[in-house]
Amino acid sequence: MKHQIKEANGKLGVLMPGLGAVATTFIAGVLSVTKGFSKPIGSVTQMGHIRLGKRTDNKNPLIKDFVPLAKLEDIVFGGWDVYEDNVYTAAVKAEVLDRFQIEAIKPELEAIIPMKAAFDKNFVKNLDGTHVKDFKTRYDLAQMVMEDIKTFQEENKVDRVVMVWCGSTEIYHEAADVHNSLAAFEQGLRENDERIAPSMIYAYAALKLGVPFANGAPNLTCDIPALVELAHQTKTPIAGKDFKTGQTLMKTILAPGLQARALGMEGWFSTNILGNRDGWVLDDPDNFKTKEVSKLGVLEDILSPEEYPDLYGDLYHKIRINYYPPRKDNKESWDNIDIFGWLGYKMQIKVNFLCRDSILAAPIVLDLALFIDFAKRAGMSGIQEWLSFYLKSPQTAPGLRPEHDIFKQLIKLQNTLRYLMGEDLITHLGLDYYEGIFDTE
Ligand SMILES: NC(=O)c1ccc[n+]([C@@H]2O[C@H](COP(=O)([O-])OP(=O)(O)OC[C@H]3O[C@@H](n4cnc5c(N)ncnc54)[C@H](O)[C@@H]3O)[C@@H](O)[C@H]2O)c1
Repeated sequence: MKHQIKEANGKLGVLMPGLGAVATTFIAGVLSVTKGFSKPIGSVTQMGHIRLGKRTDNKNPLIKDFVPLAKLEDIVFGGWDVYEDNVYTAAVKAEVLDRFQIEAIKPELEAIIPMKAAFDKNFVKNLDGTHVKDFKTRYDLAQMVMEDIKTFQEENKVDRVVMVWCGSTEIYHEAADVHNSLAAFEQGLRENDERIAPSMIYAYAALKLGVPFANGAPNLTCDIPALVELAHQTKTPIAGKDFKTGQTLMKTILAPGLQARALGMEGWFSTNILGNRDGWVLDDPDNFKTKEVSKLGVLEDILSPEEYPDLYGDLYHKIRINYYPPRKDNKESWDNIDIFGWLGYKMQIKVNFLCRDSILAAPIVLDLALFIDFAKRAGMSGIQEWLSFYLKSPQTAPGLRPEHDIFKQLIKLQNTLRYLMGEDLITHLGLDYYEGIFDTE
């Protein structure tokens, strides 16, 4: 049965806390595509196909033609930042896109001016921006962010809004009692409890207004019981954490393949150099710890050493990120993988990925924004695990082990779309193609 899905009529507002490299590359990219200057490469919603029915049916529409998603021309952008640069200036400073590409859409980019940030320097020590809201309590901050959302909606005449956190990675902290229920969280806001991170305030404000929220950084943000409770209360979808780009993307492509062939692994050493503002923020050990935890979980979960002690019982996994300004957004990563095969004979794999961080992240912002808006219109609420495909550290139901294997994640995403649109799910069993081939009657 097809779900009751509201049409994507009118404009969709995409609000982003953090208008830095990723957000500006996303905005400039969408504008460039809508003007016909470029193609949305890397966006599964725009370029990906989905098979419907049997293989012999030859039905493989584009996802955007199968699912009622907002059109790129209907997106209106907005956001907050601790620096007051408009999106044109921020995109120039980020040095991700070629200057001619930015100049071609200069007026549109200049018109997007960040709102003052809900910020607490204790959570991102390496930033010194002053474009921030004054506040007495975190409750005031939440109210101000809600006002910002409503004003944005009215001024731009948008029908629906989604929020995608593209802000810096906050320092590592674990969920505490103040995060454990909505009542405790709201009391914490009023008492200005310093364990409530700025990203949580944006998520709270969004969810309170029924605005779907996706988290592109590894911060806890909406991955706390209080905000999951609020998401259910206001029937709002959430997803997180941490855009899956670069090195972790490679890990979740390679590791499932090696494990599928029962090859053993002794060690995986990953190192990176990058020189953008994200790299500068991650140069602080407390902020790096948040990223490290997000990146480390991936291999353990894919390889399951407890189930395969002979293959992965001694696995040593190490990750390093080094801030190196000359490279700017063009991160370079090296991976050395020590594997072993038949009778324990050792082999090595080396991966040297010269990637572009924000070029890989921008289409993820687009897809998350479009899908989480779709989820809301399809009546889904709470954690959207089917969006794990895009995320390094997927948020799941309590006690549920995340699925990191990108191929299983893709099957989950596609089957969710088929399910919501009333199509048969695809199991890839395929025995029916062989039934009756040699029957003589
Ligand atoms: N680029 C990638 O491949 C990638 C992959 C995974 C995750 N991420 C995460 O995405 C986020 C954005 O990355 P980026 O490269 O654009 O970083 P960036 O430093 O260029 O941009 C982040 C922006 O957020 C702003 N900011 C910080 N705290 C804020 C707050 N409380 N309110 C409003 N603005 C705030 C900063 O001033 C900055 O301009 C980072 O957390 C990064 O770790 C990026």
